[in-house]
Amino acid sequence: MTVSADIFRRHNGELWMEDVALSAVAERFDTPCYVYSRAALESVWRRYDRAFGARRHRVHYAVKANGNLAVLDTLARLGSGFDIVSGGELARVVAAGGEPAKVVFSGVGKSAAEMRAALAADIGVFNLESASEMERLNRIAGESGRRARIAIRVNPDVDAKTHPYISTGLNENKFGVPMTEALALYRRAAALPNLHIIGVACHIGSQLTDLTPFADAMARVMALVKELKTAGIEVEHVDAGGGLGIRYREEEPPAIEDYVAVLCKAIPEPYEICIEPGRSICGSAGVLLSRVEYLKETPTRRFAICDAAMTELIRPALYEAWHEVQAVGTEAAAEPELVYDLVGPVCESADFLASGRKLRLREESLIAIMSAGAYGQVMASNYNARPRPPEIMVDGAVMHLVRPREDLQDLYASERLLPKAQ
Ligand code: LLP
Repeated sequence: MTVSADIFRRHNGELWMEDVALSAVAERFDTPCYVYSRAALESVWRRYDRAFGARRHRVHYAVKANGNLAVLDTLARLGSGFDIVSGGELARVVAAGGEPAKVVFSGVGKSAAEMRAALAADIGVFNLESASEMERLNRIAGESGRRARIAIRVNPDVDAKTHPYISTGLNENKFGVPMTEALALYRRAAALPNLHIIGVACHIGSQLTDLTPFADAMARVMALVKELKTAGIEVEHVDAGGGLGIRYREEEPPAIEDYVAVLCKAIPEPYEICIEPGRSICGSAGVLLSRVEYLKETPTRRFAICDAAMTELIRPALYEAWHEVQAVGTEAAAEPELVYDLVGPVCESADFLASGRKLRLREESLIAIMSAGAYGQVMASNYNARPRPPEIMVDGAVMHLVRPREDLQDLYASERLLPKAQ
């Protein structure tokens, strides 16, 4: 799915986001920096919501994709729920004004402290991923004087046909419980006094560009729901997880409406349908702006050394992910088009943003690394003692600084020297 053309456009050759020239963002906040479009976030979320029509549904935005408070705030105002995987993400949702009742807590390793915090906040549902986790939650809910609403995340063993690092629905993955054990686990949950079964969940992977694995997974999940019913266990909702892909290069991901239609067909009334989209909501809504520091030629390569690095965007280094690179301005328009490897200043050969790209560049050219709104800043690090970049939310003609650049003192403000004379 693509972000509507009016979010990004060229104006006198300059790249704009909404009604703001990206060069103006760089001038004001310096580079590298992340820039998000509020209109893009809102339009995708609304498309999901509208696609369900009258079907009972809930859209839980996956906070892990981009947890900036302004992003969460934007979506919370539309009525979004949230999919979290840690106590930290719960704190972010609450700080941004999200409703705990609309929170789904996923993840294979919830700590006791995280469970306590989530119970105290009275979140909507825990998606459980193992027998041990179930026993622990039952115990902690009892100690907290609460009954935890739960779903069990099953692993439908379907091949999502995506990058192995972001595929989660195969038996070899650590996620979910095998289908063959699901019924026994539900029976156990039904017998535990402090758990209240309300759903079944699954998530098969991320950046899926084909609807077949979703349909296959849902068919298997619905077979389980039937089995549960026969066993006297009723669920209210089916959580299909996230995973719908976006266009980075030549992928042609299904339209949101087609994806939702597949879910509505596979999951009959009266079950409520829950989804946990992350990337598809914020991925195309953000860019990473960077400036070319140096152009450098070696006997075999031509490098553009940028001020952004794997510390800002690790996806190329980690998954060999491809992000489109666009020149923001026209200052290099008269330069020859040459093939560049775009790299950062970090001392790692894996530190690349893009390789083999035909571009017209100069030193100091401003570039936009596209589709960087998801799994960008959230995966940033301080490696090489690099402050993490600022985040700016564009809203019409207005730029909001929604997170300032870290300064050098931030890097070690919480560290301590050893006591003197020891
Ligand atoms: N629900 C669960 C349980 C998940 O594990 C995930 C993503 C989502 C929802 C959201 O999936 P999405 O709609 O964003 O595909 N860092 C990787 C992606 C890791 C995804 C992990 N789980 C990347 O940069 O491609």
